[in-house]
Amino acid sequence: MKIAVVGATGLIGRAIIEHLQLSNWDVLAIASQRSAGQTIGLAGRQYFIYAIEQVDFSEIDWVFFSAGGAVSSQYVPKVLAQGCRVIDNSSYFRMHPDVPLVAFSVNHEMCQSAPLIANPNCSTIQLAVALNPLLHLEPSQVIITSMQSISGAGRGAMANLKEDTRCMLQSGAMQGMAFDLDTKIDVWADAGYCKEEWKIRHELPKILGIDVLIGVTTVRVPVLFAHSQSVTVTLKRSVSLSELISLFEDSPLIRVYAHEDIFSPMKVSYGNANVHVGRIRPVGTDGLVWNFMVISDNILRGGATNAFEILRSLVSVNE
Ligand SMILES: NC(=O)c1ccc[n+]([C@@H]2O[C@H](COP(=O)([O-])OP(=O)(O)OC[C@H]3O[C@@H](n4cnc5c(N)ncnc54)[C@H](OP(=O)(O)O)[C@@H]3O)[C@@H](O)[C@H]2O)c1
Repeated sequence: MKIAVVGATGLIGRAIIEHLQLSNWDVLAIASQRSAGQTIGLAGRQYFIYAIEQVDFSEIDWVFFSAGGAVSSQYVPKVLAQGCRVIDNSSYFRMHPDVPLVAFSVNHEMCQSAPLIANPNCSTIQLAVALNPLLHLEPSQVIITSMQSISGAGRGAMANLKEDTRCMLQSGAMQGMAFDLDTKIDVWADAGYCKEEWKIRHELPKILGIDVLIGVTTVRVPVLFAHSQSVTVTLKRSVSLSELISLFEDSPLIRVYAHEDIFSPMKVSYGNANVHVGRIRPVGTDGLVWNFMVISDNILRGGATNAFEILRSLVSVNE
C-alpha cells in the first residue's frame, strides 16, 4: 500500500511518519516548495521531500493532510478525485455534514467507507475520549478550561517560545509568550469565543452524538507538549466516586491518577498517546456535578496517533 503524508516536515506529519514506520507501507513525504528536494531523517530512515505539485496521486492509496486548512481546501478535493482516501488533520472539513469527524475508540466505526475522514481538533480528541465513558450518565453541561501547549501552534511557535525565553532571561524584557499566557487561541469567532473554543463547542457534540451545553475557555501556555484541561461536568444521573473512577479505568486509552500521584503535562503525557484523568472530585454531595482534569499529548493523541489509529482500524498493516 502507498501512503502520502502532506506536511511531512511539521510536528504532526513527522509523528505520522514515525507511526507508519511500524508497517511495510511505501511512504511518500510531501511538504511545501521551501522543503522540496531536501531529505528528513526519522528513526534512522531518510525521506526525500516532494512538493505537492510534483506528485501524481493516482498511484497512492491513502493521503494524510497536516499542512493547515488552506492546503487541505485546495488539494483534498483534487486528491479525492484521483481515487485516494484522505485523513485530514486541518479544521477545514470537520463540520461538513458528509465528513465523519473521528476520535479513535469513540466513533471510529462510522468511517468504514468514507473517502474523506476528518481528524478532530487536538483539544477535542482528549475531551471526547474522557467524556465517552460517561455518556450513559447523560451529561447536560460541560465547562472546560483548556491550557494548551505551544506545540499546538506548530513547530514555528515552539521555536519562537524558546527564542523569546532565551532573550527574556538575558535582557529581562518581556518578550512573546515567555513566562506568559495568551488568553485567545486562533482568531475571534462569535459571541466572545475565539476559534479554538468554537471548534471544541461544535466538534465535541458531533463526535459524541449528544446535545450538551458546552462552555469553554482555551488558553495558550508556555508548556512544550500536552494540553491540560480542567473539566466540570453536570450529569442527569448520579454516580459515586468509585463508580466514576471505574468508568474511566474501563476505557483502554485512559489512565487514572490518584491525588498523591504526579500529574503534570510534561511528566505524565509527553511522548505517549494515553488520555490521563486525575484530580477527580465532587462539586456537591448528590453525585451529579464533578470536577476532573484531562491531560494528553496534543501531537500524539491529539493528532498523529489518532489519525494513524483510524487508518489501522480500516486496513491491516500487512496490506
Ligand atoms: N500541532 C498540533 O498539536 C496539532 C494537532 C492536531 C491537528 N493539527 C493540525 O495539523 C496541521 C499541521 O500542524 P503542525 O503543528 O504539524 O504544523 P507545523 O509544525 O507548522 O508544520 C506545517 C507543515 O505544513 C507544511 N506546509 C506548509 N505549507 C504547505 C504547502 N503549501 N504545501 C505543502 N505543505 C505545506 C510545512 O512544510 P514546510 O516545512 O515546507 O514549511 C510543514 O510540513 C494543521 O492543520 C494543524 O491545525 C495540529
